[in-house]
Amino acid sequence: MIGQALFNAPMLLGGQAARADISCASCHSNGRRNPHFHLAGVSAEPGTADVSSSFFSLARANGRFDPKPIPDLAFPKKISRDRTSGDLERFLRGLIVEEFSGREPSQAAISALAAYVRSIGDCGAVLEQPRRLADQVSLVRQSVVSAELLARSGDSETSAIAVAGARNQLGLINERYADPSLSRERKLLLAASRALQPAAQSSAPDPAELRHWRIKFDSHLLPILELAESRSLYSELHVRHWISENGTTKSQ
Ligand code: HEC
Repeated sequence: MIGQALFNAPMLLGGQAARADISCASCHSNGRRNPHFHLAGVSAEPGTADVSSSFFSLARANGRFDPKPIPDLAFPKKISRDRTSGDLERFLRGLIVEEFSGREPSQAAISALAAYVRSIGDCGAVLEQPRRLADQVSLVRQSVVSAELLARSGDSETSAIAVAGARNQLGLINERYADPSLSRERKLLLAASRALQPAAQSSAPDPAELRHWRIKFDSHLLPILELAESRSLYSELHVRHWISENGTTKSQ
C-alpha cells in the first residue's frame, strides 16, 4: 500500500518532475505504461520519454535527446526483479536521486516502492480504463493511511511525501468537478486539501491529525462528491454533454 501511494506521489521525484505534478504513475499508469504520456522536450512520440533529460536532472543529463518507449512494468526487461540481488532497489534509488533529482529516499520508501513494482502483474491488455471517482478516492485514502503509518514509524520525510501525494489526488478530483454547478464541491475539495497542507510541509506529520482528516473526509466530503459524480467529468454521459455544450469536436 505504501509503495503504491509513493508511486503516485510527485514529491518523491522532487525537482522539475514534482513541479510538473509528474509521478511514476504519470509514465507507468497503474504500473503498466501510459501510451499517451507526452511532455515537450522529454517525449518524441506519445508514450516515450527521455529519462536522462536535463529537464529532470543535471546529474544524469547526457546532452542527447534520446526518448525511449515507456516500458510496461508487468514485464521485467533490463532490471531484474530478483529479491536477493537488490538490483531493483539500487535502480530505484538511482532513478529518484540522479535521474529525477529527488531527495535521498529512506530505506523504507525504497523497499515499499520495490515491493509495489514486483507486485505489478500482467492482468490482460493495457486497458484504458476511464478513472472513476472511487479509484481516485481510494488513492487519496491510501496516501493518507500510508502517511499515518510512516509517521508512526518515525519516517516523517516519506510521510510528508505521501501527504503531498494525497493533495495531488484531491487536485485531480477537483479538475473533474469542472461544471459551474459544482462550485460548492470544489470549495470543499480545496478546503480539504488546505487542511492537509501543514502535514505536507511539516518535519513531523502528526498521525492522529491525519487519521482525523481521513475520518472527516469519509464521513463529510465523500458522500457529497458521490452525490454529484453524475455531473462531474467522471461520468461518461456528462463528458459527452460537456463536449457538446463547449462545442469541442476534438477527439481523444
Ligand atoms: C518521464 C517518464 C517516467 C517516469 C516519471 C518514470 N519512468 Fe520508469 N521508465 C521510463 C522509461 C522511458 C524507461 C525505459 C528507460 C530505458 O529503456 O532506458 C523506464 C524504466 C523503468 C524501469 C525498468 C524496467 C525494466 O525492467 O527494464 C522501472 C522498474 C521503472 N522505470 C520504474 C519507475 C518508477 C518506480 C518510477 C518512479 C520513481 C518511474 N519509473 C518514473 C519512464 C519513466
